[in-house]
Amino acid sequence: MALKLPIFMDSHSTTPVDPRVLEAMLPYFTERFGHPGSRNHPFGWEAEKAVDEARAKIARLIGARDPKEVVFTSGGTESDNLALKGAAEMYREKGTHIVTTAIEHRAVLDVARRLEKQGFAVTYVPVGHDGLVDPEAIRGAITDKTILISVMFANNEIGTLQPIAEIGKVAKERGVLFHTDATQAVGKVPVDVEAMGIDLLTCSAHKIYGPKGIGALYVRRKNPRVRIAPIIDGGGHERGARSGTVPVPLAVGFGTAAEICREGMPEEAARLARLRDALQDKILSSVDEVYLNGHPEKRLPHNLNVSFAYVEGESVLMGVNKEVAISSGSACTSATLEPSYVIAALGVDPELAHSSIRFGLHRFNTEEEVEYVGGRIVEVVIRLREMSPLYELAKEGVDIKSMRWKAE
Ligand SMILES: Cc1ncc(COP(=O)(O)O)c(C=O)c1O
Repeated sequence: MALKLPIFMDSHSTTPVDPRVLEAMLPYFTERFGHPGSRNHPFGWEAEKAVDEARAKIARLIGARDPKEVVFTSGGTESDNLALKGAAEMYREKGTHIVTTAIEHRAVLDVARRLEKQGFAVTYVPVGHDGLVDPEAIRGAITDKTILISVMFANNEIGTLQPIAEIGKVAKERGVLFHTDATQAVGKVPVDVEAMGIDLLTCSAHKIYGPKGIGALYVRRKNPRVRIAPIIDGGGHERGARSGTVPVPLAVGFGTAAEICREGMPEEAARLARLRDALQDKILSSVDEVYLNGHPEKRLPHNLNVSFAYVEGESVLMGVNKEVAISSGSACTSATLEPSYVIAALGVDPELAHSSIRFGLHRFNTEEEVEYVGGRIVEVVIRLREMSPLYELAKEGVDIKSMRWKAE
């Protein structure tokens, strides 16, 4: 079959809706249009049943004991806001300190900054060269004022999977609530809120072949019972945690997407890891001075993040962007030309932080697509280096770092 261009390989930003998900959603736009809060007629009962079934499917995917622990929101960003702001407001009397990491998504980091302005203290625990957070560093950051730890499950740029169960253990030992932004991990790798000691968990439908505009926050109801203050006031939907009518078709889509992910996870993860490894091997074996960002094993099976020395990430993107959708740095920050703060936090050379490229494979990518993308990236990098005086000097043995540049 002829290859269809452009090829999408940017699945950390979003994923296509699975046709099975769309099919499940469609009746809820038309004949099953009821409001889940309408308690006194069949339209409402049908809608409520559909929302509850979706809630149960999401609960099952993340190992939650009780579907009531799943609160629907508009997406990962809102879930992060609700977790941090909701816990901060509810437990303010208990303490005003939060522990998080330097490589969180902006939906956590920017909330943390806002809370700092409101009188909270926040510790940003650094990560190692491989992007891993040390649970002992988390333990060391906890004070008697700490009310919340927030550590992402999988990073959205480098895919690094954090030692979540170990951090959950530290949190329990110290009696501190534990939130994880699992937007990139849920549906891709096993997540179990019970076994991993997670009290609050963020996830989002559009990262798992579901629709955009819906996400969820898991809020533990037992051992301990976690309480959060709502950030949206109104009709008291979602047991008072999040007012606003639940978008039934989106919830149905989210539930269906969760079920498909749960049923096919081992096979899908293995297939994507095989394709990802093929892409990685092609790139690493065809060009020199290419560096893998993040941990080589402890990462999402569909993630690949590499830096090409002497080549700007943006130039690589421009070289392929009519045929291949990939990104340099996070999709959310790629409008600016700042080097990625995640790659910078790994302690790599700033030049290399500028040259990072992220690939995110997805359910519908094929072997042919991977071959094509690998080939095109290699061609573009080789061409850009042929035009790079720095690369030429480096190949002649000149130590570029010690060179003095004359401003004229
Ligand atoms: C780790 C992480 N958290 C939160 C979000 C935001 O999710 P949403 O787009 O559903 O608001 C993203 C999206 O890129 C993400 O990768």
